Amino acid sequence: MARITASVYTSHVPAIGAAVDLGKTHEPYWQPLFDGFAPSRQWLKVQKPDVIILVYNDHATAFSLDFIPTFAIGTAAAFAPADEGWGPRPVPTVVGHPELASHIAQSVIQQDFDLTIVNKMDVDHGLTVPLSLMCGEPTPAQGWPCPVIPVAVNVVQYPVPSGQRCFDLGRAIRKAVESFDEDLNVQIWGTGGMSHQLQGARAGLINSDWDNRFLDLLIENPTGLARLPHIDYVREAGSEGIELVMWLIARGAMADIAGPAPRPRVHHRFYHVPASNTAVGHLILEDAP
Ligand code: DHB
Ligand code: FE
Repeated sequence: MARITASVYTSHVPAIGAAVDLGKTHEPYWQPLFDGFAPSRQWLKVQKPDVIILVYNDHATAFSLDFIPTFAIGTAAAFAPADEGWGPRPVPTVVGHPELASHIAQSVIQQDFDLTIVNKMDVDHGLTVPLSLMCGEPTPAQGWPCPVIPVAVNVVQYPVPSGQRCFDLGRAIRKAVESFDEDLNVQIWGTGGMSHQLQGARAGLINSDWDNRFLDLLIENPTGLARLPHIDYVREAGSEGIELVMWLIARGAMADIAGPAPRPRVHHRFYHVPASNTAVGHLILEDAP
């Protein structure tokens, strides 16, 4: 049977992708950030996941404001890096896992979550920047270390899904993975955040105390955190801080949410300000073997 063994949480700032692509990771501004992910890159090499379910948001790249799925799953065999205005990032094409993705769609829709099935789409910085942070800089010929199933969440155009809905979707995804009849080591990643606001009077807002409290609660009391209303995210973490609801999908997919099981182990925790306009948060949680 397939099983979810770990969850990873990270911001996805586009400037981080530009720093990688332009060879700036060792510059004084960027080095502390990339150093914070060094243990994670090492960990990923040891873990060797077979598939990563990568929860992210599209930033009006693949989905324009013409149509906006609340939750979408990518079932394609491959996803090209999107052109976000400066040309596509020179990173590998993202290889998908159509069989597991279709199975998750089938199972999760039967569990009453109406996923949009996406058979063709490009993926933007929301998905490729977390891969760069966690996997380093493979050439397009080398490729990313394993297939990736994109799960896109609308956190751009209101109404966006509640933290509770995201958390419950994570739980449904775990159930779906555990009913896939192949021995696969699956990870689930939640991306976006942490505190940031890109426009308006509060542009540049960072709230480190709130961010760190969010990390504490995500580890220790995710069920309580799932009940936090949108207004608290926006008030405390800025308008784009709402991206953090996506982290609850990954947390909802851990073993302790499915039934009696120990809380996941914190393998790594990192927080850094600033990266562009954003506070960067990062966690790795591992289920007990
Ligand atoms: C920035 C952060 C984001 O999450 C994003 O999607 C776009 C820009 C920023 O900090 O510049
Ligand atoms: Fe974003």
